[in-house]
Amino acid sequence: MSLYGTWGLRERERTMKIEARRATHAYATALGLALESAFQAPRLHGVQDIVDRISREPEIYGVLVYGRTGEVLFASDLLHDSPSSRVRVQSVLSSSAPATFERLVDENRVYSVIRPLRNPRAEVIGAFEVAQPLSFAEAQNRQSRNRFLLNTLTLLAAVSGVILWLVRRMIARPLGEFVTAAQALGRGELAHRIRVDARGGELADLASEFNRMADKLEGARAELLSNTEERLSLETRLRQTEKMAAIGKLAAGLAHEIAAPLNVVAGRAELLQKKEMPRELTQKNLRIIIDQIGRITFIVRNLLDFARRREPRLRPLDTADVLESVLEFLDGEFERAGIEVHKDLSDEVCIMGDPNLLHQVFLNLLLNSVQALEGATGPRVIWVRLSRATQQILGQPEYAAIEIKDSGPGILEDHLADIFEPFFTTKSGGEGTGLGLAVVRGIIEEHGGSISGGNWSDGAVFRVSLPTAPEIVSV
Ligand SMILES: Nc1ncnc2c1ncn2[C@@H]1O[C@H](COP(=O)(O)OP(=O)(O)OP(=O)(O)O)[C@@H](O)[C@H]1O
Ligand SMILES: [Mg+2]
Repeated sequence: MSLYGTWGLRERERTMKIEARRATHAYATALGLALESAFQAPRLHGVQDIVDRISREPEIYGVLVYGRTGEVLFASDLLHDSPSSRVRVQSVLSSSAPATFERLVDENRVYSVIRPLRNPRAEVIGAFEVAQPLSFAEAQNRQSRNRFLLNTLTLLAAVSGVILWLVRRMIARPLGEFVTAAQALGRGELAHRIRVDARGGELADLASEFNRMADKLEGARAELLSNTEERLSLETRLRQTEKMAAIGKLAAGLAHEIAAPLNVVAGRAELLQKKEMPRELTQKNLRIIIDQIGRITFIVRNLLDFARRREPRLRPLDTADVLESVLEFLDGEFERAGIEVHKDLSDEVCIMGDPNLLHQVFLNLLLNSVQALEGATGPRVIWVRLSRATQQILGQPEYAAIEIKDSGPGILEDHLADIFEPFFTTKSGGEGTGLGLAVVRGIIEEHGGSISGGNWSDGAVFRVSLPTAPEIVSV
């Protein structure tokens, strides 16, 4: 639009210039006739009057009338001759052909037309110059340029206003609704929907799609919630069942363990009640009864220890120190059973642990080995090894690995899955309660570690992993 406007303006300026020059020529023709007739009058009477009157026209800057030799005879107020005009006048007088040119008069640019004046015999008797002020045309051009600029700006402002209004109404407002809806969805308000424009269009399609997506999300969340609730209730029931099964197993184990000594107690007591017997026999039966009650008490105490295990009081410990103290404690046992102990505790590994509970762990494991070796025929050896392992487990970069293995008979494959269960024992004659390894596993897990038990080529092996103390790890 502005290009077209600029082009139009240029054209208009051009035609205005042509029009102005044409008008000057018309004035010159008319003035020529008037002057030629005035030149007939005696003493050129009336010529100055013509010059003055025509000069008053706003489109005329001034008029000069030249004599036969080019001298100025009559002049209007503003116009006077100059070297350049004089040259032109001479050429017009000599050639009797009109001339046009531009010149400066007192810093005003003018367009001049010089024409010859003739007498009735067609002889050149002088010339006259009509000057048109170029500033007049320029002022007009400036005025139309300003008008054009004002019109363009007004139109531009109006068009921008309309476009802005349309954009706001048709794009910004619906987009704002999309943003609000997306934020609501982000906050989890899945019931939020966008108003769909009934007139249709791309934004309405988008809004419908958005709403459909929100519908699906809402449905999926409802389904997820119901699934989660279902799973939680299932897990709760499962946990309950597992708890009941564990209690049942524990009770069965306890009943089994206690049933044997109770039978003996009942049998001997009945015997004592039924018949008189010599004092020695009575004493023997009473001793058996007391032994069996002692056995029951032992089982119950062990079970209580297992059940009422206290929270570990963790502190940084040197693992080797704990192992050394247990080995020292069992020195007499090893000697009595003729067991050779090989230890490799050179690695310095610090762990967070409860020294009393860990003492119990290693004591139980080593006692199991001692008991297993008591029936062994070959060489009786126990290996205890401590090392720092770097494998990533339990979110700890390092952990203490303790391995206790013996050259005993090992564990039957069928028993491997049960050895950590409470009351599982293969020891007869009231030698074991089957709580040792159950206690061990409980304590290790409370320390954030793990334990595994199995066989190696020559006997049984137990491996314990315990997380290292963080402050030592960072050193
Ligand atoms: N070093 C081992 N060699 C062979 N069998 C083992 C070894 N350690 C444990 N077991 C087997 O695992 C069973 C369970 O061990 P656990 O320490 O829990 O009970 P227990 O030793 O029988 O009785 P308690 O420790 O209560 O006196 C043992 O009866 C035994 O069969
Ligand atoms: Mg044991």
